[in-house]
Amino acid sequence: MEQLGSKAEVRQAIAEARREDKRIALVPTMGALHDGHLSLVHAARQRADYVAVSVFVNPTQFGEAEDFAAYPRDLARDLDLLGAEGVDLAFTPSPEVMYAPGADVTIEPGRLGTVLEGAVRSGHFRGVCTIVTKLLSITGPDLAFFGEKDYQQLVLVRRMVRDLDLPVKVVGAPTVRECDGLAISSRNAHLSAEERAAAPVLYRALRSAETLALGGERDAAVLEDAMRSTVESEPVMTLDYAAVVDAASLEPSGELGPKPARALIAARIGRTRLIDNLSLEVG
Ligand code: PAJ
Repeated sequence: MEQLGSKAEVRQAIAEARREDKRIALVPTMGALHDGHLSLVHAARQRADYVAVSVFVNPTQFGEAEDFAAYPRDLARDLDLLGAEGVDLAFTPSPEVMYAPGADVTIEPGRLGTVLEGAVRSGHFRGVCTIVTKLLSITGPDLAFFGEKDYQQLVLVRRMVRDLDLPVKVVGAPTVRECDGLAISSRNAHLSAEERAAAPVLYRALRSAETLALGGERDAAVLEDAMRSTVESEPVMTLDYAAVVDAASLEPSGELGPKPARALIAARIGRTRLIDNLSLEVG
């Protein structure tokens, strides 16, 4: 595996792979890799001949009060994992390489960037859209892989690629979970033992909405109430939102109908904020 830190070197390595007619995949990450990230790498390996993984903790997607400085970093371990997975290229730029001094032009995410996570994390999705566009521009992949774990991010990246005619196919991959249902996240490492024990309530809340929907309940408000009361059974959790939305537009569902719907949930537990989501099917 090659590890490269400069944009020019990456462009050159990928141009070479292109000359060999290889199908190129990009898996963007912020490092601190876990089984969720590695599932994206596996999916990329299956669909492409050349897999590039970027490891970059992107400062512009963290809010003032958020955990940029405390975000876990372990590049040596990440590189070992990627090497063992048969990744071809690890792109590990510094912030100075990634952002020219005074860099000021950004990608405006539009309405999808203002709801749900966007309502709580102002500017977050502008940072995500901007860095993803830059990474796509530098690597020029055929396929780019994103996890359903960050469902709003996946939907927004798909929309951005469509609206800006970016020449890449976005591939979504299912959420990888711990045995007790907790979605794997680098932020889980911040949980105390008590918080970790309480955290699977988010998945239980999503499942309660799923069970109601499978039982024929179509009123989104009833599903949202069920999620809310499930989370309230764990006093250490503070719910940010529990929403049932159209899976493509992220607009409130009202009544579940033939169009795919998604339940999304976000809660704070101590100083950690967790998010999760689940596809809903009406029985
Ligand atoms: P990061 O949080 O490191 O996640 C990188 C990718 O891994 C994202 O597509 C995310 O959805 C996926 N992922 C994380 N946990 C997962 C899980 N348990 N199961 C499946 N996939 C999972 O998301 C980001 O970084 C950044 O916003 C980024 C896109 C890299 C832009 O900076």
